[in-house]
Amino acid sequence: MPFLTASELYRFYHNGDSETAALRGLSLTLAAGEFVAVTGPSGSGKSTLLACLAGLEEPDGGYVEVMGQRISRRPEKQRAALRARHIGMLMQSANLFEHLSVEGNLQLQMRLAGRVDTGRLEQLLEQMALQSRRYARPSQLSGGEAARAGLAVALSANPAVLLADEPTAEVDAESEADILEYLIARRGPDRAMLIATHSAALAARADRVIQIQDGRLLHG
Ligand SMILES: Nc1ncnc2c1ncn2[C@@H]1O[C@H](COP(=O)(O)OP(=O)(O)O)[C@@H](O)[C@H]1O
Ligand SMILES: [Mg+2]
Repeated sequence: MPFLTASELYRFYHNGDSETAALRGLSLTLAAGEFVAVTGPSGSGKSTLLACLAGLEEPDGGYVEVMGQRISRRPEKQRAALRARHIGMLMQSANLFEHLSVEGNLQLQMRLAGRVDTGRLEQLLEQMALQSRRYARPSQLSGGEAARAGLAVALSANPAVLLADEPTAEVDAESEADILEYLIARRGPDRAMLIATHSAALAARADRVIQIQDGRLLHG
């Protein structure tokens, strides 16, 4: 069983009379243990794809399954429960609540997924080199710190599937290397990652690279 299956996804956005087809029949699978990079020009549909895979957006056609269970076209409550249980989602921005500290953001995410695991919280702060920034608000963080804090939040429930939308887009080269090493180190037979990226360094380390253009697969 693939960890994630997307079948013939379509997504349209409407703005007045104009229609944008962000996804046009895109299918993919993410197998256990796989690290897949998704590349494509700006506007090709990467963020829309990840949002549909995470059940944050509903595809207008096709379906998504995570760990063998349908997540698309389910009531929001069911989607949220599946997401909390199986998926870590690192969005392009706005991964942290501004009124909460780094630690508070981690605690909230853990509470949503079931329970606050203080041991894991400490471990994540250490792995992301954020111990000294635990009481800082998101606006007080550097770009690299904010990226690492967002990643810590996405990983707080130790999800089987990590979806990350350009996790290194707004960080310096050193932070990019740190994040990349952490993601690689986290690989394992019971984990899978799908990462949208423009980073050649990141794509070079993936098992497989999926290229998309105009909401369709270019290869593979
Ligand atoms: N909320 C939205 N409303 C209208 N159009 C959108 C919206 N989100 C994305 N789009 C359009 O859908 C297409 C795909 O966007 P996106 O998924 O963000 O691509 P990428 O992440 O590859 O840059 C683009 O043409 C974009 O302008
Ligand atoms: Mg995007």
